[in-house]
Amino acid sequence: MVRLPCPLLLLLPLLRVSAATPEPCQIDDEDVRCVCNFTHPQPDWSSALQCVAAVEVEIRGGGRSLDEFLLKSASANPKQYADMLKALRLRRLTVGAARVPAQILALVLHALGFSRLKELTLEDLEVTGQVPPPLQETPGPALTTLRLRNVSWATGGAWLGELQQWLQPSLKVLKVAQASSLAFPCAQLRAFPALTTLDLSDNPGLGERGLTAALCPRKFPALEDLALRNAGVETPSGVCAALAGAGVQPHRLDLSHNSLRATAAGARECVWPAALSSLNLSFAELEQVPKGLPPKLTVLDLSCNKLNRAPRPEELPAVDDLTLEGNPYMDPEALQHQEDPMASGVVPPCARSALTMGVSGTLALLQGARGFA
Ligand SMILES: *[C@@H]1O[C@H](CO)[C@@H](O)[C@H](O)[C@H]1NC(C)=O
Ligand SMILES: *[C@@H]1O[C@H](CO)[C@@H](O)[C@H](O)[C@H]1NC(C)=O
Ligand SMILES: *[C@@H]1O[C@H](CO)[C@@H](O)[C@H](O)[C@H]1NC(C)=O
Repeated sequence: MVRLPCPLLLLLPLLRVSAATPEPCQIDDEDVRCVCNFTHPQPDWSSALQCVAAVEVEIRGGGRSLDEFLLKSASANPKQYADMLKALRLRRLTVGAARVPAQILALVLHALGFSRLKELTLEDLEVTGQVPPPLQETPGPALTTLRLRNVSWATGGAWLGELQQWLQPSLKVLKVAQASSLAFPCAQLRAFPALTTLDLSDNPGLGERGLTAALCPRKFPALEDLALRNAGVETPSGVCAALAGAGVQPHRLDLSHNSLRATAAGARECVWPAALSSLNLSFAELEQVPKGLPPKLTVLDLSCNKLNRAPRPEELPAVDDLTLEGNPYMDPEALQHQEDPMASGVVPPCARSALTMGVSGTLALLQGARGFA
């Protein structure tokens, strides 16, 4: 067996060449993007070697379990390959479609700590076991962006704290979609000092209650953008309460693609973050402008709702840039398009996004059983 320094091969250290299988990895002509799809039952792992020169690498495991590598990984020490890992051009890595023991994930993060990786994406993974903490001398990668979609963790909401131990405090963007748990035990979480964007979109089971559990107080001091598209949010005032409770001060808040109600039953007045300047309420099925919006905004997007009449000035906050397109009172066909996007040959902007919403709706059904408590 050949021993190679590439983190891809640390993840998959078994080099078993079988001539009959098709080449699982493909690199583009510019040596920038390399994509591996190990769906074959006995894939040729050595094919990953061609990705060594790539800047962007994507690896899909065909849903396989990586348990078999657990024993082999026990003796691996990425440190001995530190110089070669440092020399890799790798900046963006996507790993998807596999069942991964947490110890292997830790080993990969350890190896990536010697690389100059900036963006890591994990998709359709099931992480088993608890992610072990790093040895003090080995920080993980200095990521700027971490994206997770449909990643489930054996340790529930503790996953973020476990993962965070492996990351240097450089993270600027964190996106978590289709999460199994966003109820983070706040005491175990350290602050994210550089995080400016938190995107919890496409978590239809989240809602205001889940948001309150996810936004640990004082852990997101630099937050500027909070995206909650299709996140089961019911009222802007409920979000306001969650933000106030957590002391989170975003500048931009995206609540589009939620079924919003205009008034919350028994809602209390809430003080919006002073820095909030942009609010997106498009595709929110609103028949009226919701009550309790921030008194003053730079941007308010109310496009593609179900407003049947023009909002009266006293119903709206003071706003510089107001978007009301795609509401039935302005465009009588808008509603029809939203309900039946295929009705006409031309696809108006609201209809196109309503289609995407259809996809998210399916997701909501798939996710229905998952809890956020
Ligand atoms: C991986 O390969 C399988 C079978 O060859 C194919 O069905 C699947 O769509 C591929 N996945 C990706 C992400 O390319
Ligand atoms: C989520 O990931 C699991 C693997 O952990 C996969 O079986 C499932 O199909 C994925 N779900 C979606 C909606 O992609
Ligand atoms: C508001 O959200 C919609 C849908 O998510 C998006 O298309 C639109 O560009 C956003 N508006 C602003 C002002 O960012």
